[in-house]
Amino acid sequence: MAARRELAPGSVEAADVTAGRVEPHYARVLTRLLAAHAIAEKLTALGYQGALGCVLNPALRPIIEKNLAEERKHARLVYGALEELGINEVHADRLMIPALKAPSFAAPRRFAEHAADELGLVMASISLDMTGLIMIGINYKDSSYAPHARAAEVILAEEEDHEIFASSELRVAAGRFGPEPVNAALCDWLPSAVNFFGPPGSGFTYDCIRYGLKARDNQELAELYLSLLERRVQQAGLAMPRLTPGYPHALA
Ligand SMILES: [Fe+2]
Ligand SMILES: [Fe+2]
Repeated sequence: MAARRELAPGSVEAADVTAGRVEPHYARVLTRLLAAHAIAEKLTALGYQGALGCVLNPALRPIIEKNLAEERKHARLVYGALEELGINEVHADRLMIPALKAPSFAAPRRFAEHAADELGLVMASISLDMTGLIMIGINYKDSSYAPHARAAEVILAEEEDHEIFASSELRVAAGRFGPEPVNAALCDWLPSAVNFFGPPGSGFTYDCIRYGLKARDNQELAELYLSLLERRVQQAGLAMPRLTPGYPHALA
């Protein structure tokens, strides 16, 4: 059964949560959602930091530095929203320990844990910035939790730039390295990029939609991402990998 939104965008402030003016379950769902968003931003920042020492093309350096600074800022904004709820960064990260092992965190972990070369950087940007833009633009911008909606607005403007970088670099990489290695890298990264949206129809997402913390199910966002990426891949003269339909997705 599809969930119906019960709370309007921006209708809940931190004080409403801490003073217990919303259901206790709202606070639990919100905390988990913010903790997941915060750690995704932090892992993305770590990935850009690693790429800084590994990408040899000097033309990319200013962009990596800009994205690194912005991802750090995004992480600070979301951890700041958690602080207002009385949850510090260590506590928030601890809540995410089981989730980090799930397929939905494979892409951000890969970027954070293995320094990316130029092609890896392009793939990470497609897997994390392009997906992030969709999650934040569609789900978090109209969050019922006003501090998250406000943070999303700031993040969104910068993620739009990151997505432009990802798309243009995909074309550049296809020209620079030739289609074969880029197609192979797409096959390598795409399953984890789509899995980053999380499983379809989960109880957690149902609660998020009901509380107005998300607008759409993960599946809808994943489909939107695939259609957007397919256009970009075709524009770059590359081949879109085929994936298995169920979560977690794998190469078909
Ligand atoms: Fe970000
Ligand atoms: Fe980004």
